[in-house]
Amino acid sequence: MVDAPVQPRQRPLPESPVSAEEVANVRAPTLEAHVLPPRVYHDPAVFAYERDAWFAGGWVSAGREEDALQPGQYFLAPVAGETIIIARGNDGMLRGFYNVCRHRGAAIVEEPAGTLPRFQCPYHAWVYDLEGRLRQPRHTELLVDFDPDAWGLIPVRIAVWQGIVFVDLSGTAEPLHEHLGPIVDEFARFDLGALRRARRIDYDVKANWKALVENFLECYHCPGVHPQLNRITPYDSGSYLPSDGGTMNSYMEVLPEFETLSMTGAADGRPPIAGMTAADHNRVYYSVIWPNQLYSLHPDYLMLHWIAPLEPGRTMVRCEWFFDPVEMAKPDFNPEEAIAFWDLTNRQDWHVCELQQRGTASRACTQGRYSSLESSVHGFDLMVADRYANDGIITPQERVSKQESSAAVRARARRMAQGRSAAD
Ligand code: FES
Ligand SMILES: [Fe+2]
Repeated sequence: MVDAPVQPRQRPLPESPVSAEEVANVRAPTLEAHVLPPRVYHDPAVFAYERDAWFAGGWVSAGREEDALQPGQYFLAPVAGETIIIARGNDGMLRGFYNVCRHRGAAIVEEPAGTLPRFQCPYHAWVYDLEGRLRQPRHTELLVDFDPDAWGLIPVRIAVWQGIVFVDLSGTAEPLHEHLGPIVDEFARFDLGALRRARRIDYDVKANWKALVENFLECYHCPGVHPQLNRITPYDSGSYLPSDGGTMNSYMEVLPEFETLSMTGAADGRPPIAGMTAADHNRVYYSVIWPNQLYSLHPDYLMLHWIAPLEPGRTMVRCEWFFDPVEMAKPDFNPEEAIAFWDLTNRQDWHVCELQQRGTASRACTQGRYSSLESSVHGFDLMVADRYANDGIITPQERVSKQESSAAVRARARRMAQGRSAAD
């Protein structure tokens, strides 16, 4: 075999494991539609399809650039069952590589993050520089048709937005800003890449990854599941924002007597992040960036969740909190109330998602219906259903406004009260 630039092996895509008929119930207006079929949360064939066609088929959020700022600094990112090395070269460029030795295929880097002068395979010590080039390995001088220059680490396409590193294993996805759609302009007034992580918590959740994304997209469950959250940002407050491309966007309102989402509702002296307008001061912006990034921008901090599917019924969720480094350097900086608030809220969410995972495994489970406060869940499910059907049709999304939904609830309550007084 003559050496040539290598493209990673693309597994041939299987036929969609979900038929167009199965998803037809989802592809209807929200108030007429049914939720996703229960088996898409459990079926290993569906899980494998999603991994190969979606997570290896386009942009996936992989981590933060702040973890690879200096030459030699790197971190490992789980993407579509692979481990990707994101590393800064001596030339200052950020790159992505498969963590696979070109000799006999050993994983090269074991520590999840750190700083290295080069990448050296632990097996037979092949050495790659920080730019991914193979240095002449020992005892390969006699090989026929072997040019070390053609045996570097296999590169992966990456791009960065607001300090978040995205990976495209296919190498053929649309430009990242097209994938992100309107949030690029919406958040251009901020420099979120300048924020720094104060805490990371990893959660091992016994639920399908889609259930976690759906959960993030609605606050219908908030009064019962999150009384602490609902006290500060009422469940039916806020609005949906334009959601083209691969993102679903909205905001919720912080009541005037509170400053942010924390156990106390106070920001503990932190001013709003640079770039916040007066309107931003009492909003929390929420986005889902397809397929695996949950994004929550509060007046004074950013929170990111990374969703890494491990098995059909098991997902690793990484939650991180980011603050202005100027605030972090102050002696009285105290992020604990904000972290504790979301750690509590996260656990409340994982609990109900795990209950959903159990229930959807039942032979009694059928496709349910959306409430009028779940049109963004339906929007995500349409993205899922269109991708299962893979018939080129992009189902248009609609949003039932939260105010419209609440007005309908109040009108019904009025009608019932009138009916009761008429009966008295
Ligand atoms: S497998 Fe890496 S050097 Fe042999
Ligand atoms: Fe929740």
